[in-house]
Amino acid sequence: MEFSTKIGTPERQKAGCVVIGVFEPNRLSDPAKAIDRATKGRLASLLRKGDLRGRLGATAWLHDAPGVAADRVLVVGLGKENAFGSSQYRDAVRSAVRALMDSGAADAVFYLGELAVDGRDAQWKALHLAMVAGDTVYRFDRLKSSKEERQRTIKFALGLLTKPSAGVARGLERGTALASGMSLAKDLGNLPSNICTPTYLAQQALELSRKHRLKCRVLEAKDMQKLGMGALLAVTKASHEAPKLIVLEYNGAAKSHKPVVLIGKGITFDTGGISLKPAAEMDEMKYDMSGAGSVLGTIEAVAGMRLPVNLVGIVPTCENMPGGHAIKPGDVVTSMSGQTVEILNTDAEGRLILCDALTFAERYKPAAVVDIATLTGACVIALGHVASGLFANDDKLAKELLDAGQDAWDRAWHMPLWDDYQEQIKSPFADMANIGGRPAGSVTAACFLSRFAKSYRWAHLDIAGTAWRSGRDKGSTGRPVPLLSTFLIRHAEHS
Ligand code: BES
Ligand code: MN
Ligand code: ZN
Repeated sequence: MEFSTKIGTPERQKAGCVVIGVFEPNRLSDPAKAIDRATKGRLASLLRKGDLRGRLGATAWLHDAPGVAADRVLVVGLGKENAFGSSQYRDAVRSAVRALMDSGAADAVFYLGELAVDGRDAQWKALHLAMVAGDTVYRFDRLKSSKEERQRTIKFALGLLTKPSAGVARGLERGTALASGMSLAKDLGNLPSNICTPTYLAQQALELSRKHRLKCRVLEAKDMQKLGMGALLAVTKASHEAPKLIVLEYNGAAKSHKPVVLIGKGITFDTGGISLKPAAEMDEMKYDMSGAGSVLGTIEAVAGMRLPVNLVGIVPTCENMPGGHAIKPGDVVTSMSGQTVEILNTDAEGRLILCDALTFAERYKPAAVVDIATLTGACVIALGHVASGLFANDDKLAKELLDAGQDAWDRAWHMPLWDDYQEQIKSPFADMANIGGRPAGSVTAACFLSRFAKSYRWAHLDIAGTAWRSGRDKGSTGRPVPLLSTFLIRHAEHS
């Protein structure tokens, strides 16, 4: 995707399309007024006839408008002016891009950056324009045999009346990099488990390391054995696919800067194992590697922005299958940390592969560790599909992630990690059990992980409700790449 800036008034832009906004009811934004003046009232007449009232996300076209240099004008509704905020701005951009994709325009100049969005500056508006546009044009059609609806690529530009500030250019650049990271995360999520295997994820990581000159190391089962990763190995036991532990290192800052470590759950398919899942919607368990996808996607975005940070991505990846060699309820395994775990439910596998990765992360002497996982159905019950669940052993780190999510409009909600909940994962036979019963299921899962994250600042994002959409629009969302990347942008700026 391309995103440039074009200076000048909207009526003078020679382009396939100029995009302007109208508030509800029938209130023209400044760029819309300019178009209305140039066309001697064509816009006002469109409104008068009732073709557009300004309802948020509604669109209307003006073709071959006299006095306008562009082939078309796309008018997008912005909703009520006093209710216009971050979410409305993003919705308006999304609707405009959708309408453009159904049009014949090969390029478009957006005049939505002039709108006041409370608490947001020009850089934010530019970044979100590029990120939302990239998110909206994304298609996953590589597994369709006929490509008849081949997607046209549209050249986008941000229209400005005066020379842009440095922030605007940076915003567009970062927004484009974010969209590219989200696109990688979405591709990996959307690919089915017969293609996106642990080996495939390792190949993708190697490709990423070649593209951005990163360090990449892939540990095999025998390496895991040597390290004593008994929990991770327990999950992969019945699978015919080889497990991998992928390590990617992006070094954008001096060696003296401690790295941020991201750990992504990479279960390429979760059948539940011997504690088999029901058949309905089991296909969606191909998305159980979305945490891994978000780590690779964030590295793609951060490397694209050339951020001055040190970042380590760790991806433990395998399948969770039933079979003759499978772990069984009641089995006890020893994790890399030495702590023993009674596996009461083989479907609580994410925490088992993550706990060994958390111990492995200690060797990087991290400034902070964030793990990202489609960990619990309970988190979907608690927060739905809006917020990711955030748990942390450090309130400052939690706040940094919450703020980043707010900025990136990829929001998380702080959940408790109180010791009281640790009671629920006590085991009579091992140091802990891998499940804590139905109450507060996402909290007890986080409590389990916290026992392996004692030696550093750590946070856990449960993205079970936010990583993909079900139903007619089924597909990966690319979340939480925006949250993580924004966290790293801020980390780079403050250290
Ligand atoms: N990958 C699932 C969590 C999940 C379920 C994500 C549904 C999105 C939608 C995870 O491995 C799992 O199966 N968790 C169990 C834990 C339980 C056995 C304690 C769950 O949530 O049911
Ligand atoms: Mn499971
Ligand atoms: Zn799972």
